[in-house]
Amino acid sequence: MLAKVYSCALIGLEGELVEVEVDISRAQLPNTAIVGLPDAAVQEAKERVRAAIRNGGLTWPFNTRIVVNLAPADLRKEGPSYDLPIAVGVLAASGQIVADLEDAVFIGELSLDGDVRAVHGVLPMVALARARGKKRAFVPAANAPEAALVREVEVFPVSSLASLTSHLLGAVPIERFPPGTGATEPELYRGTDFADIVGQEHVKRALEVAAAGGHNVIMRGPPGSGKTLLARAVPSILPPMSTTEALEVTRIYSVAALLPAGSGLVTTRPFRAPHHTISHAGLVGGGTMPRPGEITLCHRGVLFLDELPEFGPQVLEVLRQPIEDRVVTISRARMSVTFPANFSLIAAMNPCPCGYYGDPARECSCPPSAVSRYQRRISGPLLDRIDLFVDVPRVAYEKLASTAKAEPSATVAARVHQTRAVQRARFGDCGPGGTALNSEMNASQVRDHAQLQLSDDAGRLLRLAVEQLNLSARAFHRVLKLARTIADLAGSDRIEQPHVAESVQYRERAE
Ligand SMILES: Nc1ncnc2c1ncn2[C@@H]1O[C@H](COP(=O)(O)OP(=O)(O)O)[C@@H](O)[C@H]1O
Ligand SMILES: [Mg+2]
Repeated sequence: MLAKVYSCALIGLEGELVEVEVDISRAQLPNTAIVGLPDAAVQEAKERVRAAIRNGGLTWPFNTRIVVNLAPADLRKEGPSYDLPIAVGVLAASGQIVADLEDAVFIGELSLDGDVRAVHGVLPMVALARARGKKRAFVPAANAPEAALVREVEVFPVSSLASLTSHLLGAVPIERFPPGTGATEPELYRGTDFADIVGQEHVKRALEVAAAGGHNVIMRGPPGSGKTLLARAVPSILPPMSTTEALEVTRIYSVAALLPAGSGLVTTRPFRAPHHTISHAGLVGGGTMPRPGEITLCHRGVLFLDELPEFGPQVLEVLRQPIEDRVVTISRARMSVTFPANFSLIAAMNPCPCGYYGDPARECSCPPSAVSRYQRRISGPLLDRIDLFVDVPRVAYEKLASTAKAEPSATVAARVHQTRAVQRARFGDCGPGGTALNSEMNASQVRDHAQLQLSDDAGRLLRLAVEQLNLSARAFHRVLKLARTIADLAGSDRIEQPHVAESVQYRERAE
């Protein structure tokens, strides 16, 4: 007998419909074959499915030849998520389940005792099922909240093969999982608050400008000056994600198997701080079936590279393209997938190997050549993509000991939020890939929205800066983009002289 059930494959962040056909025929020598480009984990499904069926109180058809065909045949099938559809196919082909399964998809790994285990990528799979007109999704109970974000599909949380069988037979129905609200209720931020950081007003200001316009920042200063502390406080001043952004990020976390337990939607902006020993694949993504790396896991959030020069030159080099394009493409012989990678980069570094170059209180012990060599570890093309350079000096004792409270993050976040609204109004809702922030402006947008908005005073100052500081064309554009954000923060359409003056302060100063 032949049975057909539907499941889903995952390619990058997208689902793909897979037909699971099970054919059972009488045979002298019982055997089971899975065909249709399955990887090792799918091959092992036959053992798990057989054990799960037996241990679930069902019958494994004996003296039969079972052929499982996964179609389309040219799509590589990976992972254990085909266990459940294969089991359902075997039960249907052997007459143990009689039900119309045309409008349903089945996704899940089976344990030997018939329990259904969570798998990754359920959200994009169910989204695809909806696009293909499927009405019901049977998914592992732990994956039900993410699946239910696709509101139009009825989601049934499956805890075991036995319970699924009684549901399909109409004996004991599984209750539909309530559709997700899709509302973004940001969780309370529990990290460092700006109010807890003493002094460093100019650094906090730079981080506020960076957050408001989506600009990349490098902080430079001696050890213990608070660079790491400041960077880790940045999520506290970021605006909440829109529902669209939250769904984008949730899809990524679903595929990376990093969704927090029990929650459907990721509601806080990602903050990722990979260690400098990270591999190429860990950073940009990789694997035979490509999985997202850190630069995708921080999509719509912050990538924090602490101790920047410790990251190898190759590692920094691979960041260049994604920072420019805001996506990363991973090519494989069989396929090429593109992951989103639109993040703000925050980096921290010591000014030299010993850390004290330029420190008023302590002498630097590095030979001068070592200082410039250290700084040259960060390649020009990467530096070209940094809009703000900020020095972080050590805070004097009197300041550290003072008990005066600084401005709380919530107040700063409100300004950032407001400034982003200004940018949204300016650029419109141009969808994925379009300009959303000042930092993403192209040359003609810089001309229209920054250069042509300069007041006479501001124009004169900019001209002076370019001539006296010998700014490159790139640096000139950077100053304009930043000045645009600074004016937006001040609620000003025109870019005035003080906005340009502050912007020029953030340029790179070579030692
Ligand atoms: N401005 C500051 N306000 C409050 N605590 C600070 C400040 N600067 C440094 N610290 C304290 O010093 C510690 C070391 O700072 P850290 O951020 O690790 O420095 P860096 O990364 O520059 O080496 C922090 O954990 C924090 O407790
Ligand atoms: Mg540090």
